[in-house]
Amino acid sequence: MEKELKKAFLAQVNIPEDTGKIFASYAKQFEELMMIYQCAIQEVTTKLEILSHEMSVRQQRNPIESIKYRIKKPKSIAEKLIRNGKDVSLESVSENLNDVAGVRVICSFIEDIYTVANMLTQQDDIVLLAVKDYIKNPKPNGYRSYHMIIEIPVFFSDKKQYIKVEVQIRTIAMDFWASLEHHVKYKKDIPDPEGIAARLQKCAEVISATDEEMQNIAKHIEML
Ligand code: GTP
Ligand code: MG
Repeated sequence: MEKELKKAFLAQVNIPEDTGKIFASYAKQFEELMMIYQCAIQEVTTKLEILSHEMSVRQQRNPIESIKYRIKKPKSIAEKLIRNGKDVSLESVSENLNDVAGVRVICSFIEDIYTVANMLTQQDDIVLLAVKDYIKNPKPNGYRSYHMIIEIPVFFSDKKQYIKVEVQIRTIAMDFWASLEHHVKYKKDIPDPEGIAARLQKCAEVISATDEEMQNIAKHIEML
């Protein structure tokens, strides 16, 4: 059984020619699950866009610079479940993974991050499940970002379903750093990986100091 499910997940990436009835049925259910996560992303991004629209009209400046989102690829879903020793099944996805639906909010200033996080989690239909503040507690490699796992209700024709969404909120500078670090992490055979890691860590500190100083300047000129 498990094997079939695993194949069905992987079949989403590379559907084998002999896709049998069982595979097709799992593939259909998988497609439905992905549709549900897509809808949850839509709900969260709509909430953020509404906040952004409101603030751009009511305030001098908008703390939301941009909003990005992504849905985890079937291959990554299967790989993560296997890596964590979990079943590769549809139930297992919603039970064990928090990041199938991911939304990223990019802000100008550090304080904006907390403003946006509060505005979102204050809404009474959102359930806050977990917070990881990698700004107050950066990762050893220098990674900084504010992470939340939230649950959002999605209304379908026959039911209301709470879906988990990972929300990452960071500054433009933190986002720039994370994208370069991500490239480095996934690139094979880079020369002097320790040296690169040390340089990236230094960049993270410089960026953090710059983010703080720019926030101080903005406050000084009463922009914040
Ligand atoms: P994952 O299994 O990677 O999802 O991590 P986790 O469940 O322990 O959660 P965590 O909050 O640490 O990380 C979630 C997500 O944040 C990752 O999938 C990345 O998108 C991002 N992230 C976390 N750490 C790093 C990092 O060191 N570098 C970069 N570039 N991104 C990171
Ligand atoms: Mg992840």
